[in-house]
Amino acid sequence: MIKDKLDEKKVEEFEEFIEKHKDVKGAVMPILQEAQNKFGYLPQEIMELISKKLGIFLSEIYGVATFYSQFTFIPKGKYSISVCLGTACYVKGAKAILDEFIEVLGIGVGETTDDRKFSIVETRCVGLCSDAPVVMINNKAYPHFNKDDVKKVLEELE
Ligand code: FES
Repeated sequence: MIKDKLDEKKVEEFEEFIEKHKDVKGAVMPILQEAQNKFGYLPQEIMELISKKLGIFLSEIYGVATFYSQFTFIPKGKYSISVCLGTACYVKGAKAILDEFIEVLGIGVGETTDDRKFSIVETRCVGLCSDAPVVMINNKAYPHFNKDDVKKVLEELE
């Protein structure tokens, strides 16, 4: 499990944000969004802080956060790899490409390598079906991707 040392200044700013918003109705969502933007994910200690400051059970905060896919509980890697699993890509072998990334990186979907370099994330159609199968790495699209390209691309990014 990756354990982060959180930037104290960021935590302080975040506490100020909570103070400003905590009395507003439905404050949990904007507060979680702010945490996600600031830290890139929702660290355990930040979840505890939100719970304490808002006086809401931690389990309830987790309940909200797990409901929305925009929130993540692990830090993302420098390179976020998404293999499109939409229909057009799927029929052209996207699953084999995803399996190859999983095998080579030794992590599952939704996980990050220990060196924080790579994460594998889930994606549906990214709107480039004529170029299927498509892999997105951060904002860059890799069209007509092939299982054999996996190692090559990872080496280039190393
Ligand atoms: S299904 Fe992959 S881009 Fe549309």
